Amino acid sequence: MSCAIIYVFSGTGNTKKICDLYKAEFEAHGVETTLFELKGDLSSLPSPAAYDFVGFAYPIHGFNAPHIMLDLAKALPKCANGDEKKYFVLKSSGEPLKTNNISSYKMRAILRRKGYEQFAEYHYVMPYNMIFRHTDSMAAKMWRTAKELAPVEAREVLDETPHMLKGIPFGHFIAWLFRIEQPAMRVNGRMFKVDKNKCIGCGKCVKACPMGNITRGEDGKFRFGGNCIMCTRCSFSCPTDAFNIALLNSWRINGKYDLDYAGEEQKSKHDWYCKKAYKRYFEAATQKINCAKQNNDVE
Ligand SMILES: Cc1cc2nc3c(=O)[nH]c(=O)nc-3n(C[C@H](O)[C@H](O)[C@H](O)COP(=O)(O)O)c2cc1C
Ligand code: SF4
Ligand code: SF4
Repeated sequence: MSCAIIYVFSGTGNTKKICDLYKAEFEAHGVETTLFELKGDLSSLPSPAAYDFVGFAYPIHGFNAPHIMLDLAKALPKCANGDEKKYFVLKSSGEPLKTNNISSYKMRAILRRKGYEQFAEYHYVMPYNMIFRHTDSMAAKMWRTAKELAPVEAREVLDETPHMLKGIPFGHFIAWLFRIEQPAMRVNGRMFKVDKNKCIGCGKCVKACPMGNITRGEDGKFRFGGNCIMCTRCSFSCPTDAFNIALLNSWRINGKYDLDYAGEEQKSKHDWYCKKAYKRYFEAATQKINCAKQNNDVE
């Protein structure tokens, strides 16, 4: 039996859901699959050398991979001499803009120097956890699409079909420019606040932070360290929406989406935003899914 590992970072669960779909499809084809969820401490990583298929999965942050993915790439061992390791990338983001195609550049460069070679990259549009809230009908449409598309693309990965996303002009420069987001988020994270009138002291945020960046003293006061990677897990999942995420507070989104929403299409004041790009994404996905169905690639 062959085996796979996907190193996954997911702030609010979207990317992890995509990985779960890949794991199910891989295992349906006899490939035992480990999802290794990343947290701040990368000292005991499983080595990719022990796996036949290696994947990296992350949410796009500012047209880049989150900083923890770069730390992971740095922490992984070099491939043995002459033994190149192939890998694939899965990523999720709130919008289908082509600019998101550049997000793996830095991680890819670090991994290449260690002998890892990327052969495929797949991008799934999932509900925003930052900027503005999609309607539940839009979120459910994204999830329905991902549920049908991911198994098709997981099969392509198992066949080692090359699938690299097309770059954009000045892509490397744009990716570099937006990586300013990473140190900026560490500074911004120190300025988070919790509204003590709303907080019920459940401790969910402290436990959930993947970077161990939130502590709560005996006096009940919250302290925020300098390791924030702006995954929004704390503010997104706070049951009373007690968080203030400093400079990005006007973009804060709180509370899960109803991904199984089956009612009428809901209107939003953001319907105009990237309208054509979303349309293109859904059309291309539907075409690929239907094509796979015709070829009996999926049930
Ligand atoms: C700090 C931050 C930056 C983001 N930047 C982008 C972006 O550049 N492009 C985009 O389409 N979505 C962006 N998003 C939205 C997320 O990529 C998207 O909601 C993703 O599915 C979240 O996945 P997760 O639940 O696995 O964390 C950003 C979200 C955060 C928190
Ligand atoms: S998750 Fe929200 S309510 Fe719970 S301790 Fe944290 S801030 Fe307070
Ligand atoms: S403080 Fe909040 S946003 Fe920052 S890394 Fe921790 S959970 Fe994520």
